[in-house]
Amino acid sequence: MHGCRGTWVFHLTNKGPKAVPGLSRVLFSVAVQAEIQYSQVRFRQPRWLPFLFFERSKNMDNRHVMPTYARKPVSFEQGEGVWLFSGKGKNDRYLDALSGLAVCGLGHSHPAVVSAVSEQCARLVHTSNLYGIALQEKLAARLCQLSAMDAAFFCNSGAEANEAAIKLARLYAHHKKESAPAVIVTENSFHGRTLATLTATGNQAVQAGYEPLVPGFIRVPYDDVGAVQAALGENPQVVAILVEPIQCEGGINIPRPGYLAELSRLCERHAALLILDEVQTGNGRTGKWFCFQHEEVQPDIMVTAKGLGNGVPIGVCLAKRTLAELFTPGSHGSTFGGNPLACRAALATLETIETQGLRANAARLGEYMVAGLQEKLSGLDCIREVRGKGLIIGIELTRPCGQIVDLCLENRLLVNVTADRVIRLLPPLILEKPHADIIVDTVVRCIHTFAESISGKPDTRHE
Ligand SMILES: Cc1ncc(COP(=O)(O)O)c(C=O)c1O
Repeated sequence: MHGCRGTWVFHLTNKGPKAVPGLSRVLFSVAVQAEIQYSQVRFRQPRWLPFLFFERSKNMDNRHVMPTYARKPVSFEQGEGVWLFSGKGKNDRYLDALSGLAVCGLGHSHPAVVSAVSEQCARLVHTSNLYGIALQEKLAARLCQLSAMDAAFFCNSGAEANEAAIKLARLYAHHKKESAPAVIVTENSFHGRTLATLTATGNQAVQAGYEPLVPGFIRVPYDDVGAVQAALGENPQVVAILVEPIQCEGGINIPRPGYLAELSRLCERHAALLILDEVQTGNGRTGKWFCFQHEEVQPDIMVTAKGLGNGVPIGVCLAKRTLAELFTPGSHGSTFGGNPLACRAALATLETIETQGLRANAARLGEYMVAGLQEKLSGLDCIREVRGKGLIIGIELTRPCGQIVDLCLENRLLVNVTADRVIRLLPPLILEKPHADIIVDTVVRCIHTFAESISGKPDTRHE
């Protein structure tokens, strides 16, 4: 296993906790945990841990990578289905319950995507949007069919797809002679890292240091129709509402049923656009092609990315015809957007989701996991709620719980924590029941270990 902390880079030797017998193994694990915690607070590099079971790696060096990520001390060389393998070979495998952050819905190295992408690489990767791209037209038609939208603009990420949506909303505003348009966005939202999308994002940590932010956004609480109604009443310049059907980065916040439908009615009444950000919720993850399809609602604009290309970068902004026609040649663009390689990967991904019944699988196994987690965690004081839709699952604790990610990692399970205290599970849609059982059992075990470690200790950071 390769790892890196700050500018120090290590790989695991075979002297890990498993090599230490019986009680000493428990004490060893406690000591290692303490060391990791201590080093996170005080030092960039664990002081004695490396000498126990890390060796300095000669061939990994992150000094030339900008430090925008707090990476875990592990890296992977290969993937297959739900599994990721470190450089140490087939026996050192991790169950990926995050799917590369909701990207690899078909798991790793899915044969349908491998063969489509390989074949396309050998045939044609990129030509630019100066010329017709048949695969782009085919993918646009398929996405419109699946979402009941009319036209697609392709780009390379979720943030860019949201940028396109915001630009389209502004074109719509100017078209109806609104010169200072505003878009309603919500607290705890996440829409990306470009300047406009980080402004739309309801998280100050994402915005800090990048001021001045982009004007033209009005923020309201999530899942609060009254707040939207009030904002629309007070601000006639509002031209759109941009909202996630489920706030994923914000803590797996699932709104009450009917929320989107009520927003849609308000939009209609105020001639505003309903823009849905399905970057994380789209492409089968919640059990429908798109999460809005759980309700009787049709957005004016919808964006998605992440799971669309199963790891090949692609984003898309879909719109109804009259809006789509506000874009004219040269008014927006992307060099790579919708190139043959990305479109071929997306077509193979969508086809596999369809032919293998993966939407139904996501719905079924999601319910199974939520029920299992609820049952096995019931009665534990530190649990606030277990919730989910399809294979977007959140376990909310009563206090910050980042250590659980490390505990799971020690147990060869990849999860993460969002909004400080919500364990997030985004397993691939190809998940099978035995994998679901491993995830549930491992997470429950790690939460128990965490609960024991904090018992009697007050949460000094919040509340
Ligand atoms: C709802 C939502 N919108 C937008 C984004 C940004 O996507 P990207 O990182 O591909 O730019 C994300 C990423 O997590 C997301 O979850």
